Amino acid sequence: MGLIAELTHRCPLQCFYCSNPLELERASAELSTDEWRAVLDQAAALGVLQVHFSGGEPMARADLVDLVAHASARGLYTNIITSGVQLTDAALAQLLDAGIDHIQLSFQDAEVEGADFIGGYRGGHDKKLAAARRIREAGLPLTANFVVHKQNAERVEAMIALGEALQAERIEIAHVQYYGWGLVNRNALLPSLAQLEHCTAVVEAARVRLKGRIIIDYVVPDYYARRPKACMGGWGNRFINVSPAGKALPCHAAETLPGFTFPNVRDETLGDIWQHSDAFVRYRGTDWMPDPCRSCDRRELDWGGCRCQALAIAGDAAAVDPACAMSPAHHLLADAVAEAAAAVDVPLVPRRMGSARR
Ligand code: SF4
Ligand code: FES
Repeated sequence: MGLIAELTHRCPLQCFYCSNPLELERASAELSTDEWRAVLDQAAALGVLQVHFSGGEPMARADLVDLVAHASARGLYTNIITSGVQLTDAALAQLLDAGIDHIQLSFQDAEVEGADFIGGYRGGHDKKLAAARRIREAGLPLTANFVVHKQNAERVEAMIALGEALQAERIEIAHVQYYGWGLVNRNALLPSLAQLEHCTAVVEAARVRLKGRIIIDYVVPDYYARRPKACMGGWGNRFINVSPAGKALPCHAAETLPGFTFPNVRDETLGDIWQHSDAFVRYRGTDWMPDPCRSCDRRELDWGGCRCQALAIAGDAAAVDPACAMSPAHHLLADAVAEAAAAVDVPLVPRRMGSARR
C-alpha cells in the first residue's frame, strides 16, 4: 500500500495539465508538521510501505526534510515527486541525511523551449537537468517522468534518450490524463491516433533496446482504449491520498465526485478512514459494479476503470468507465477525439487565470 502525501498545492510551475483540483487549497489550510507526522505514524501502523511526497511542489514545504526523516524512521520507503527546480546541492544533502530513498523528477519536454513554455517557468528545464545530475551523482535512484501530449509527441524518442543520458533507472512516458486542468485543455493536448501509435512504437523499441538496464513505464490516454486502466490499482485498494488540508481521498481527483463527504485526518485516524469510511468503501471491490462489469472476467483486473472519468464523460461516477468499449458512453471518447482533431490553434489555459498562452 502507498500513501500519497500531497503536502501543498503551491508550485512554482503552472503546467497546462496540472492534476491538482481546480480549487486549490490555501497555504494557511495546510496540515502542520505535527499533523503530517501523525499521518505518517498511522500510515506505518496501517501497513503502508511507501510514502510519495507530492504536491503541488513538495519542496515548497519548509518541513519536507523533517517529514522525510520521520517517515524513514518509521520504516517507510520515501519518494519525492518533484519538479526539481528547487533541488539545490544543499537541499539534496539534507534530504540524503534524512534518509530519502528515491526521487521522481518531472520533465515537460526533451528540449528547453517546449519544456519552459508548458511549465510556465523560464529556466526550469535547465534546473531540472542539473537536479537530475545531482541525484545520480549522489547515487540515489532516479525516475525521469515525461508528460506527453499533442504538442510534444514527436519528441518521445528524444525524451527517452534524455532519460538515458541522465542515467535514470526508470523512465515514465506518461500521456496527459484528462482531469483537472488537463480536461480544461483537452482540445489543445489530446494527441491524434497517429501520434499515439508513433509514441507506442518508440516505447516498444526502446524497451527491447534497454531491457535489463532501464525500466520504461508507459501510460496512454484512455481516449483510444477499448478497455480501461485499473485506476489507482482499484478504488480504495492500494492507495490513500491525503490532500494538503488533510482530506483523505481514494485518488487525487476524487473531490470532483458529488455526493461524498471526504473524511479528514484531523478528525479520524487513517485506519478508521481506510476500513470504514463511505469514501473508501463505496467503490471498493466488485459489489458496487453495474452490468456488464459484474459478470466480466476483467472485473478484478481493471476494477471497473476510473470513477472520475466515468463522472467526467458519462456524468455518473458509478457507471462503467467510458474507456471500456462495453460502456454505452464509449462513443463520447471518439467524439472528444474528433473535436480535438478539429481544434486548431486553441489557446492553452494555465492555472493562473487570465494569461492564456499560445
Ligand atoms: Fe472492465 Fe467493466 Fe469493461 Fe469488464 S465491462 S472490461 S470490468 S470496465
Ligand atoms: Fe479518480 Fe481514476 S482519477 S478514480
